[in-house]
Amino acid sequence: MKIINITVLNGPNLNLLGLREPEIYGSTGLNEIEAKMNDLLIENNLEKKLTIDFFQSNREYELVDKIQDLMNKRNQWIIINPAAFTHTSVAIRDALLATKIPFIEVHLSNVHAREDFRKKSWFSDIAQGTITGLGANGYQFALEHIIENTQN
Ligand code: DQA
Repeated sequence: MKIINITVLNGPNLNLLGLREPEIYGSTGLNEIEAKMNDLLIENNLEKKLTIDFFQSNREYELVDKIQDLMNKRNQWIIINPAAFTHTSVAIRDALLATKIPFIEVHLSNVHAREDFRKKSWFSDIAQGTITGLGANGYQFALEHIIENTQN
């Protein structure tokens, strides 16, 4: 049986979700988002077919290292909210390109409706898709997409 391995990566300050600017990022904490993603797998009886691993870091190199660790592993997907690194990090972009792992870019806020500097993403043109502005649900939608597209 082909097991799909999903890694959910979150960038800087997302450890503060729920506390940080809740009017922009909502009141749901990162732990809660992760628990709901696990629940989605259980509700769909997919615990044995899909694994899900969560990693948050405020440090760019740790995210690069984590992505490199996935290199040459089969049946991978990444869901990533690079947070502020979205707008700055050629290093994380290059790591994702190196692995060739398909990924979905998620943002809680609608980055296109905010400051101009947030409109530039180093990830959107190489992502399978992007979800922006749908709050914490964006992570669930990304997971649902993977579930629907990796069955059989
Ligand atoms: C964010 C948007 C980024 O511009 C910001 O730096 C973040 C979070 C979002 O999820 O809306 O930290 O990625």
